[in-house]
This record gives sequence, structure tokens and C-alpha cells, in this order.
Amino acid sequence: MSLITVDESKCIKCELCIKECPVAVLKMGKIGPEDRETTTCIACGHCVAICPNAAIDNKKAPLVQQVDLKDFPKLNAQQAEHFLRSRRSIRNYKDESVSREKLAKLIDIARLAPTAENSQGISFVVVENKQLIEEATEITIQMIENSPLRHLVEAAVRSYREDGVDSIFRGAPNLIITIADKNLRSARDNSVSFLTYLELYAPSLGLGSCWAGIFEYCASIEHSPLLKLFNIPEEKKITAAVMVGYPKYSYKRLVDRNPLEVVFL
Ligand SMILES: Cc1cc2nc3c(=O)[nH]c(=O)nc-3n(C[C@H](O)[C@H](O)[C@H](O)COP(=O)(O)O)c2cc1C
Repeated sequence: MSLITVDESKCIKCELCIKECPVAVLKMGKIGPEDRETTTCIACGHCVAICPNAAIDNKKAPLVQQVDLKDFPKLNAQQAEHFLRSRRSIRNYKDESVSREKLAKLIDIARLAPTAENSQGISFVVVENKQLIEEATEITIQMIENSPLRHLVEAAVRSYREDGVDSIFRGAPNLIITIADKNLRSARDNSVSFLTYLELYAPSLGLGSCWAGIFEYCASIEHSPLLKLFNIPEEKKITAAVMVGYPKYSYKRLVDRNPLEVVFL
């Protein structure tokens, strides 16, 4: 069965759909584009999205599901730079939980990020129960205390044990965990891509976020008790995590980094 359908009255045979296809599934036939075969299609939707006349449809990326880009106001270069450079890791949160509606919107945008071969394959566990997050802190600290990496996070362990300071989740009201099938090859890359979108979008909802790297490390250890705590199905693994909440303070200056290192050839 054919993957694509073409409205002959609209198709101008510009071949953009063919040129755009990342896996060369399409070719020009006698009356318009055709698919060579259907299994290789990665459902990226480019063939449908690029068509100037909405002449092509693809079963794996239906036209009806694609949103028209017509009136999209582009950020200028300065706005785009400012947008990207004003995201910061947030490590102090207001004592206020985030509505489920906002959390759902956040992950709904995150899932639009690019992934290897459009494989996606990432699902979310959204933790709204602060007590669970506190239990995860205790378990993470215990795991780190008994880990050869303890010396790397000695101060975090001590501040927790001596003063009750949570350096793992920073008192954030919510935690967003990505999970994937154990055998998904690009699981970590895809998760990083998703959560990078999430981090960039969060300030638009008034939210802040921060990666939970120590937790990620402990959750990725085989048979980690953190998997049980969050009810992660047997066939899944935790691939990444960020804490989320309303920032208590605001940053006054933009991100800076090490000097740029580059070779142009
Ligand atoms: C994979 C990854 C893991 C991270 N883990 C932690 C963490 O465990 N705790 C933390 O406070 N920040 C963590 N961060 C945040 C980085 O420290 C932060 O991005 C970096 O210092 C730059 O600061 P900025 O995000 O404010 O620009 C992590 C970031 C990444 C990308």
C-alpha cells in the first residue's frame, strides 16, 4: 500500500518533497511523486511540510495534523540571542507547585525536539508529589555516600546530612523524568534534546528548571532503587531528569561561557 497520496490538480512537480526526504523514499513518477517503498520512511513529515500547494499527504505524517506556519513572527537575531542566553539553571524555587496543565504543556513542547532518525521513543514521568521527590533525595544521597564518586559531591552530601540542604532537587516542587525502552539506541541523546527544548520553553510559562545530574547518575545504575520509587516499568530505563518550579529569584545578566574555540576550514 502506498505511503503517500498526491493531489494531481495541486502538484506542480517542483520535486521539493523528493529533495527533502532524508531517506530517499520518494521519486518522481509519471504523474507526480511516488514512494519507492514504505518501510524506510521515518515519518519526519518534511515532504508534507515543504509542499507549497499542500498537494502531498503521507500516511505516517498526515497533512491534517500539521500546523500552518504562515503567520509565524520570526525572532530577529538579537531577540534570538537574548532568548537563548537568558535561560539559566534555576536552583531556588518558590514554595508553589506548578499546575498539571502547565506541566503538560511543557512536556508537550519538549516532545517536538529533534531526535535521531526521528526515533523519539521518550516518555515522561512527571512527579507532582513533593514527598516522592524528598524520598528520591534521601535515596540518591545514600547511593552517593556508598559510591566511588562520593568525593566529587562530598559537599552536597555533607550539607544534606548536616543542614538538611537538598542539593539534588533544590527543593523544587516538581520533577520531570524521561524514560525509554532499555534497548533504544539513542535514548540519552533524544532525552537531552527533549529536555533542552523543555528548558528553553519553561521561562515562557514563568517556570525555571535545572538538570538533576546526580540523580540521573544514580538512576542509571542497574537495579537502582530509584526505578522502584518512581514505578518505572521493568523494560524501561531512566534517561534524564530536570527539576521544575517557579524561580524564587531572577538573573540580571546573560549567560557567558569559555572563549569560543573553533577551526574554520
Ligand atoms: C547533563 C547535565 C547535568 C546537570 N546536572 C546538574 C546537577 O546535578 N545539579 C545542578 O545544580 N546543576 C546541574 N546541571 C546544570 C549545569 O551545572 C549548568 O547548566 C551549568 O553550570 C551552566 O549554567 P546555566 O545552566 O545557568 O547556564 C546539569 C547540566 C547538564 C547539562
